[in-house]
Amino acid sequence: MKVLIVGSGGREHAIAASVAKSPKAEKIYCAPGNAGIQEIAECVPIGAMEFEKLTGFAKKENIDLTIIGMDDPLVGGIVDAFEAEGLRVFGPRKNAAILEGSKAFSKDLMKKYRIPTAAYENFTDPAAALGYLETKAEFPIVLKADGLALGKGVLICSTLEEAKAGVKEIMEDKKFGSAGNTMVIEEYMTGREVSVLTFVDGKTIKPMTSAQDHKRAGDGDTGLNTGGMGTFSPSPFYTEDIDAFCRKYIYQPTVDAMAAEGRPFKGVIFFGLMLTPDGPKVLEYNARFGDPEAQVVLPRMKNDIIEVMEACIDGTLDQIDLQFEDNAAVCVVLASEGYPVKYEKGIEMFGFENFQDKDGYYCFHAGTARKDGKYVTNGGRVLGITAKGSDLKQARKNAYEAAEWITFANKYMRHDIGKAIDEAE
Ligand code: AMP
Ligand code: GLY
Repeated sequence: MKVLIVGSGGREHAIAASVAKSPKAEKIYCAPGNAGIQEIAECVPIGAMEFEKLTGFAKKENIDLTIIGMDDPLVGGIVDAFEAEGLRVFGPRKNAAILEGSKAFSKDLMKKYRIPTAAYENFTDPAAALGYLETKAEFPIVLKADGLALGKGVLICSTLEEAKAGVKEIMEDKKFGSAGNTMVIEEYMTGREVSVLTFVDGKTIKPMTSAQDHKRAGDGDTGLNTGGMGTFSPSPFYTEDIDAFCRKYIYQPTVDAMAAEGRPFKGVIFFGLMLTPDGPKVLEYNARFGDPEAQVVLPRMKNDIIEVMEACIDGTLDQIDLQFEDNAAVCVVLASEGYPVKYEKGIEMFGFENFQDKDGYYCFHAGTARKDGKYVTNGGRVLGITAKGSDLKQARKNAYEAAEWITFANKYMRHDIGKAIDEAE
């Protein structure tokens, strides 16, 4: 098979590495890809939002399967564009990707189908939002821009003053653009966060192994929110009982709700969960693999990823026995100093040869490029260093060892990825 992957981050590198393991994959392309993906796939310089060029390429090269990694093209309807040309594609259509594309939609869906989530109200008028905050709100409270905002459209406000400033930022100053035309005001929840990625074929849902992300830039969960600074899998807090609860009251009901709404979901649903004292509740849905969750989940998957994705497209996921290795993995993100605000790019990196022939160690590229035969940084999140281990502690030790194998002048990483493992004991 000829496979095309759309995207350019660590997630797409992890997907490409899984696809490369499949005996079915004869040739892999990635658009636009990055310097690491380039080693296992042919990168084509087409942007993820250039739907016509992408479908044109897929037709010309007789691509058998296209995998969409990123949220923007999914929410923009890339799957519909491929299907309109008779091309096979993995991911939700536009009318289903709205599960991630609109937080107001997803909150209303959960309310209608009684899926556990934080209490909330939606607002399209800033004056009404302010009125609500002044009369009804309890603090802290959470403000969320409705649309896609690179994971940054969520504000946790401890006081009325902060919340008022937040309404101005999101709805009036449009800090997150049109994503802030509608805003969700949501109850603040406490607990441990877990990410569960699932394969879905429109009616059947198969959860992958659990993971936990570290969203803040600094050690001890300080600093600004980022795309994710590191992950571990599985989460020791995601017990069998919690899993059983989520399957019954969250996962299957979400799939059934989407089908009942005439929006059958095929692809990956990423459940961002909060394990609250009142039980698991949905923090957010994403319509794709997580990044860097994919970098710890996919290396542990035993199945042929192409087989699983084809089953999602064909509606035969019930026949797949999804299996994961009985071990653990940790991913430490190497970022550019200053991320997520301001950072230098184009800085040479060294040490990639250390990963050669090392089983269970992965150097996933995110913001990287090749320049004059050298690897240079090309983004805020630069690399995802993943290592497996027999258990979480061993995996963390291995990942932090491997994180030292790569050097560059403005390298930055958190030193406490997976620290929660100690608390689990
Ligand atoms: P989201 O993009 O919705 O996942 O939000 C980003 C982060 O904000 C989450 O990972 C949580 O850490 C935090 N967050 C979002 N919603 C809530 C909430 N209702 N209560 C507490 N924290 C939240
Ligand atoms: N790591 C969180 C996300 O992919 O949205």
